[in-house]
Parts: sequence; C-alpha cells; structure tokens
Amino acid sequence: MKTRILMVCLGNICRSPLAEGILKSKLDPERFLIDSAGTGPWHVGEHPDPRSIKVARKYGIDISKQRGRQFSQMDFANFDLIYVMDNENKHQVLQLAPNENAENKVKLILNELFEYENVDVPDPYHGDDEDFEHVFKLLDEASAIISKKLMD
Ligand code: 4NP
Repeated sequence: MKTRILMVCLGNICRSPLAEGILKSKLDPERFLIDSAGTGPWHVGEHPDPRSIKVARKYGIDISKQRGRQFSQMDFANFDLIYVMDNENKHQVLQLAPNENAENKVKLILNELFEYENVDVPDPYHGDDEDFEHVFKLLDEASAIISKKLMD
C-alpha cells in the first residue's frame, strides 16, 4: 500500500499546491500518493495561483492541472501524514481531528528544516514573484529532507 501524504494551507492555491508538486517530483509515484487541500473554502475547484504555476514551471514542475479542494475530517482516514504550512493551518486542522492517532499525523512542514522552531511558510498571496520564489525554495529544502527520510 502506498504511503499517502497531504499538504495543507489556507487557500490551496499558493503554498500547498507547490508543496504537493515539489514532493511529487522527488518521490516514486508507485510508492507514494501526494495531494493537497486548503482549510478555507474560497478556491475549491480552482487551478493554483498563476504565480505558483510560474515559479514551479521555472524549476521544471507542472502544477497547472491541480484543482483546489477543502480539507475535511475524512482526510485523517485517507492520509498517513498531513503537513501543514503554518501554525494557523495546524490549529484549524487539529480542531477536526477525531482522536490522538489523527492528531499525531499533523506536522508543521518547516519543522523538517528548522527542527522544533515552529516556523510558518509565509503566505505569499498578497506578495510578489520574489515571495513565491522564497516559498518555493523553503518547500524544496523541506521536501528534500522529507523525501530522503521516506525513502530510507
Ligand atoms: P495559500 O494562500 O493558503 O498559500 O493558498 C492563500 C490564498 C488565498 C487566500 C488566502 C491565502 N484567500 O484568502 O483567498
């Protein structure tokens, strides 16, 4: 059975689609299923933000076909690991956790890079291309660590 990993942010159009695309690019699709979702409902059914699509394309990753969806309690049953982009996402996701096993699946993604520091992936929605570039680099470094751990 595949290991199933979910990336979560607020809108599911900027950060988590990038996290999904980047981690997918580093892992064997035969062994890993990777998806993303947002805690908010506003962008359900939409493609990622054009600035996320652009920065991913710059590094050879196509995220243009993804569609936004909202995180739901069912995701605790459907995924083994749930990486949240920031502390607010973590709070929102944990509010829906049915039990301790579900709570333990939820991890702040940048704690892979900056252990125990509880750092947020900054929300680039109101930012510019440079902010998206910064988010890409953070997620690329965190995903490199995650993929290495998962493949060991
Ligand atoms: P994301 O960015 O959580 O990285 O997808 C956002 C996108 C949209 C909104 C907020 C954050 N919004 O409020 O619509």
